Amino acid sequence: MILPIVKYGNPILHQIATPVISFDEELEELSKNMVETMYDATGVGLAAPQVGMLTRLMVVDPTAGEKTDSLIVLVNPKIITTEGDQFEDEGCLSIPSFSEQVHRSQKVVVSARGIDNKELVVEGQGLLSRILIHEIDHLNGVLFIDHISVIKRDIIKRKIRKKVRNGEW
Ligand code: NI
Repeated sequence: MILPIVKYGNPILHQIATPVISFDEELEELSKNMVETMYDATGVGLAAPQVGMLTRLMVVDPTAGEKTDSLIVLVNPKIITTEGDQFEDEGCLSIPSFSEQVHRSQKVVVSARGIDNKELVVEGQGLLSRILIHEIDHLNGVLFIDHISVIKRDIIKRKIRKKVRNGEW
């Protein structure tokens, strides 16, 4: 089932998500729906708060569904180490039609649980590193526009307010 994606302006995007305790059918169903929703939006990552759930669950696929084996589903992810820096354009399904350059680590190592509660370690470089950190940020109520300058952020906020007024958001 494709879920509605929460957009900027909804306070849930600024809240801290709760760790998963029960690895049950409900969690599996939510992750399946999130994968479907991400692919439908041609996204490369989606975190549970973006579909209105304050749960530490995220789905990632740097190919946006082009390669069937590139899907990663992470529960309760934690950043273990980071290395280096990259400065690339970044967007977000919750802030559609906006993108800005954001500094992220070039490499990241993330530990998490799979949907089956098995321990997982994921190493990401480049785009995958960027997506992993972006989605973990979502679980902590942080958006990519929190990492850009106040001036750039204010311009985006103003444009969004205009879209809201015009019924385009
Ligand atoms: Ni995002």
